[in-house]
Amino acid sequence: MNENRKKIVVLSGAGISAESGIQTFRDSDGLWENYRVEDVCTPEALARDPELVIGFYNQRLAQVLKAKPNPGHTALVELEQKYDVRIVTQNIDDLHERAGSSNVLHLHGDIRKKRSQVDPDDIEDIVPLEKGIRMGDLDRYGKQFRPHIVFFGEAVPNIEPAAKLVEEADIVLIIGTSLNVYPAAGLMYYARPDAKIYYIDPKAESAKGLDKRVVCIAGKAGTAVPEMVRQLMEEA
Ligand code: APR
Repeated sequence: MNENRKKIVVLSGAGISAESGIQTFRDSDGLWENYRVEDVCTPEALARDPELVIGFYNQRLAQVLKAKPNPGHTALVELEQKYDVRIVTQNIDDLHERAGSSNVLHLHGDIRKKRSQVDPDDIEDIVPLEKGIRMGDLDRYGKQFRPHIVFFGEAVPNIEPAAKLVEEADIVLIIGTSLNVYPAAGLMYYARPDAKIYYIDPKAESAKGLDKRVVCIAGKAGTAVPEMVRQLMEEA
């Protein structure tokens, strides 16, 4: 890796995958319009009704398998020609990886994986992906495997490495997130005073409480990110 390349950290949310056909959470047709978080995205829900929770995430996985990366994802890959790019995503889909991004850190888990409910380090690929996690698929302790997803109320193990990446960044690109969920939403405040911060989102200009340094760009990821990348490639 060429050490004197500028470092770009991308903080992406559900909005970057919206144009790939994956529902966001809090937009009008969002997931939390049709499901209650407490029914499908908490440890209590998993204990109370594992079949409902596992079924919910198997539906998410089916949506992801049908989706393809969009120009927002692929433009970020192009940046790697001139910058040291690290993707920190709240998304559980693998569209950044499928687009070709080399460094992707998932804050809220990975829909392609399952994990033991006893040993959090026992994380395995779901095979075959098309079948999802099956009821009766047990870990070595004889307990049902669970989705490798961070539920509300659970720790976000990757937040420390993510914060370190932001601290080292020259440029931070926040793309397609409502900045509703902490600690992910607080990552931008780890940026150095001299770092540039951009926020790309159709609602970016109405965002509240943003650091005054943040340059807001109202737009969809599929068009605004390639435009941003064009500018950054010229500046490099
Ligand atoms: N391009 C860019 N941004 C978009 C697009 C688009 N085409 N369409 C919608 N958006 C924006 C919305 O304006 C909104 O700001 O994407 C954002 C989606 O916000 P949320 O649905 O809240 O998704 P996100 O911020 O990623 O949620 C964070 O909440 O439920 C938890 O764990 C879940 O990771 C998720 C976290």
